[in-house]
Amino acid sequence: MNNRNYFIIIGFFLLNSSLFSKSIENGKKLYNEAECQKCHTSDDYTSKERKVKDFQKLQWRVKRCDFTMDAGWFDEDIEDVVHYLNSSFYKFDTNK
Ligand code: HEC
Repeated sequence: MNNRNYFIIIGFFLLNSSLFSKSIENGKKLYNEAECQKCHTSDDYTSKERKVKDFQKLQWRVKRCDFTMDAGWFDEDIEDVVHYLNSSFYKFDTNK
């Protein structure tokens, strides 16, 4: 493989990882601003009694709580918050 191809591949990975962490960062910011912590501590997401058992359920639950709170998030915002909670606490496989 010539050098140019290596650059393209490395560039692709850099771009990909920066987009990924950006959405998680945004999710964290949204989460903190929406005052989800009035009702939740991180223990809710890590305890054995947590109700959410898979990634779909996590998406559903964040939507429900967003709706209850009237945080007014767009779908992309909800996705970011889901990714933030998943990467920090739930650690589900997002491809399922
Ligand atoms: C008014 C209180 C309240 C607020 C504010 C609130 N939630 Fe919830 N949340 C709940 C309740 C009640 C449940 C369900 C708990 C249960 O079923 O045991 C829940 C469950 C959850 C769960 C699932 C926890 C589990 O069992 O694994 C997640 C994730 C969640 N909320 C995210 C959020 C997010 C994100 C926000 C901010 C937009 C938020 N919540 C704001 C009341 C709240």
